[in-house]
Amino acid sequence: MAEAISKVGVIGAGQMGNGIAHVSALAGFDVVLHDIAEERVRKGLATIDGNLSRQVHSGRITEEDRKAALARVTAAPSVDALGSCDLVIEAATEDEQVKRKIFAGVCPVLRPDAMLATNTSSISITRLASASDRPERFIGIHFMNPVPVMQLVELIRGIATGDETFEAAKAYVARLGKTVAVAEDFPGFMVNRILLPMINEAIYVLYEGVGSVDAIDTAMKLGANHPMGPLQLADFIGLDTCLSIMQVLYEGLADSKYRPCPLLVKYVEAGWLGRKTNRGFYDYR
Ligand code: CAA
Repeated sequence: MAEAISKVGVIGAGQMGNGIAHVSALAGFDVVLHDIAEERVRKGLATIDGNLSRQVHSGRITEEDRKAALARVTAAPSVDALGSCDLVIEAATEDEQVKRKIFAGVCPVLRPDAMLATNTSSISITRLASASDRPERFIGIHFMNPVPVMQLVELIRGIATGDETFEAAKAYVARLGKTVAVAEDFPGFMVNRILLPMINEAIYVLYEGVGSVDAIDTAMKLGANHPMGPLQLADFIGLDTCLSIMQVLYEGLADSKYRPCPLLVKYVEAGWLGRKTNRGFYDYR
């Protein structure tokens, strides 16, 4: 079944989507990278090129690998190009309505036997699958950011996901050289169920004046050996994404311990979304 996947479609050319396209192309899959605006696809391709070049410079891949990977990626501003894919992975904004709309537009174009996956970081796979026309060929394939660097991929089955789909997704991740962790379909799955409350707590620590941004991040970097402090990581993930995940945990698990910190809400309301807007807990301007 793994060999059955040779062409991978990626919906969304943002930080997760271009990373998924990057690692898929590098592993030898043909890739169709789709986004609603041509400009976004162009930007996604430029990011892939830049990140492949980084890997060439650090000796992880050769210049030939870079060129071959880039040649495997087709930019597709039109959704129709996804019709030739064996597996299509949705990596759009972490918003259920946006994802539902995408599935409604994409499903009629897909081959009947094609698999559809979502890179959602927290939303129910069963519920998203029900918005598609193929719940048995629908699965959660959750990559971590930055995709070319992070070793883990969570696989999440919806209630209707078939064994063949699960095995094919597992084999796809193995071909990327990444490691699978299988999670049940609960809010936030495993990584974000654990990671986001930690980040949210760090924001509470700031909100309550227990420590400054620098002190909190230094404490966790040097005191717990985290590669990034929690506030730096929140900016890296995107504060809007952090808030969406906390809301899914809060509503889905109905426990006040997941209440999003009011300071996180305020930052998102201000449009301070972290690195992508040049302002979050840190100022990147
Ligand atoms: N593409 C390719 N290579 C990249 C890259 C990218 N986007 N970003 C970093 N790298 C490479 C660098 O080139 C460098 O490679 P070499 O070791 O070969 O030289 C290596 O990664 C380390 O990068 P840097 O030296 O630039 O910086 P660093 O040592 O500070 O590492 C980091 C950067 C890898 C991001 C590290 O800080 C880290 O691991 N941070 C934590 C990331 C994390 O927790 N991610 C999970 C987020 S949660 C999530 O994704 C789930 C969700 O749904 C929200």
